[in-house]
Amino acid sequence: MKSDSHIPVLLNEAIDGLNIKPSGTYVDGTLGRAGHSSEILKRLNSKGKLICIDQDQEAIDYSEVKLGRISQNYQIVKNNFRNIDVVLDEVGIKKVDGFLFDLGVSSPQFDEDYRGFSYNKDAKLDMRMDNENSLTAEKIVNTYSLNDLTKIFREYGEEKFSYQIAKNIVKARSTKPIETTYELVEIIKESKPKSELLKHGHPAKQVFQALRIEVNDELNALEEALEKTTKFLNVNGRIVVITFHSLEDRIVKKFFKKMSVIEGNRINDYLNPSDIKTPDFKEINKKVIIASEEEIANNRRSKSAKLRILEKVK
Ligand SMILES: C[S@@+](CC[C@H](N)C(=O)[O-])C[C@H]1O[C@@H](n2cnc3c(N)ncnc32)[C@H](O)[C@@H]1O
Repeated sequence: MKSDSHIPVLLNEAIDGLNIKPSGTYVDGTLGRAGHSSEILKRLNSKGKLICIDQDQEAIDYSEVKLGRISQNYQIVKNNFRNIDVVLDEVGIKKVDGFLFDLGVSSPQFDEDYRGFSYNKDAKLDMRMDNENSLTAEKIVNTYSLNDLTKIFREYGEEKFSYQIAKNIVKARSTKPIETTYELVEIIKESKPKSELLKHGHPAKQVFQALRIEVNDELNALEEALEKTTKFLNVNGRIVVITFHSLEDRIVKKFFKKMSVIEGNRINDYLNPSDIKTPDFKEINKKVIIASEEEIANNRRSKSAKLRILEKVK
């Protein structure tokens, strides 16, 4: 099944969070189906600019048409947002007023059978956001060692039965390669006690999350991108990030804290006022922003979303 619909998550909150200046320069690091990008573009005047990045050609082809109907003040670049510095250099942007990252996969990526992201659809084990990448879920499942499989299921999936699942994968592939999502789902189900299978949530959810993170190297890409963004930000410029699971949120939370808190502030009590250091960044929302009950009722994807905002203050 092919689907083009993606309901943008925390749309108003993200747009408010960017505090858009009509003549400003904005970067959407996760274009997707241009839900957020469209709203940014609508708020820009003829001097404003929007740079959109995605590593998925299908997302780009779709969004090119959608954004083109709004205005021409945008440019789309196919790349991984971990190369955000290279992208900005290529398009000649030195300063930015706002970065947006709406992480993870989009609904169309998840819904399209052939991409192999979903445990609910029988497909080849793929899970690549960028189909030019050589690493697929199939490769991981059929070539990684028992130890490495256990490690990624534990670390990226926080899966309680990581070792048992990895062991059964290694056993199954010794007879025949594991090629499809349903074959993997069966192995996962057989690796868990019956009581676990009765619990709420799909038994393969955590392992599929882990494989997706490994295939797309999602956590390292996020860390690298965040580190690179700050040097481009104008004063009053903002970074807005929407995460969908605790591993991503932990990275954003830690990074924003690192940028906005000067360790050992109490030492300042003994300094002359002119020697007191204050941070260059501040967190706009002390408490993480989550979706309203109304949004969750309309869009289940928003249930786990968390939004954080960092601002460059000087
Ligand atoms: C959740 S969707 C974004 C949806 C978008 N905000 C909208 O409203 O339509 C995430 C998009 O980011 C892309 N993406 C995820 N990680 C990426 C990365 N490291 N580099 C480039 N694109 C990435 C995915 O391919 C996907 O299209």
